[in-house]
Amino acid sequence: MSDQNKTGRNQKDTTDDMINLVDNLNRDNDLKYNRRSFLKSAVGASVALGVATLPISIKAMMNDGEEDDLRYEIAKLSDIKKGESLNFNYPTEEEPAILVHTKDGELKAYNNKCTHLQCPVFYEKEEDVLLCPCHKGFFDVNSGHPIAGPPQRELPLIELEVKGGIVYAIGRKIRHG
Ligand code: FES
Repeated sequence: MSDQNKTGRNQKDTTDDMINLVDNLNRDNDLKYNRRSFLKSAVGASVALGVATLPISIKAMMNDGEEDDLRYEIAKLSDIKKGESLNFNYPTEEEPAILVHTKDGELKAYNNKCTHLQCPVFYEKEEDVLLCPCHKGFFDVNSGHPIAGPPQRELPLIELEVKGGIVYAIGRKIRHG
């Protein structure tokens, strides 16, 4: 092999090596750039998402188990005397509820599926309590808390407002999940 051939081949190899080296350097830079861009985008997206959901998070923290307001006309106040009750559905047609005008003149409302095994709960006027006849469960009419029998959890409380002689349901509080 002549020196010229040797030199020619070596120069070609050296040029190829240089091209490959520059290629590899560029590829490394690309990778670094892409990783950096990805991290920047990911952090940016997280911050944007956090800011966008902040009002929802604050509302959830302040919600305290209260569901969105849903105003519903239950009855005229004059149609429900002291010691009487009436049934309605709230907040949906599938959720039975009871409005009680207690002997003391208070208005109270609850979803009336017993928290034991879902039997309907009735107002027992003589004792001024809510009674579930299925297994003799009793609830305090003023708070919805269980006071005797198998139920362990409160009835969901329906918040009321009386305006212009009409009783409205305006919200619901589920106190235990
Ligand atoms: S379902 Fe009401 S006490 Fe059992």
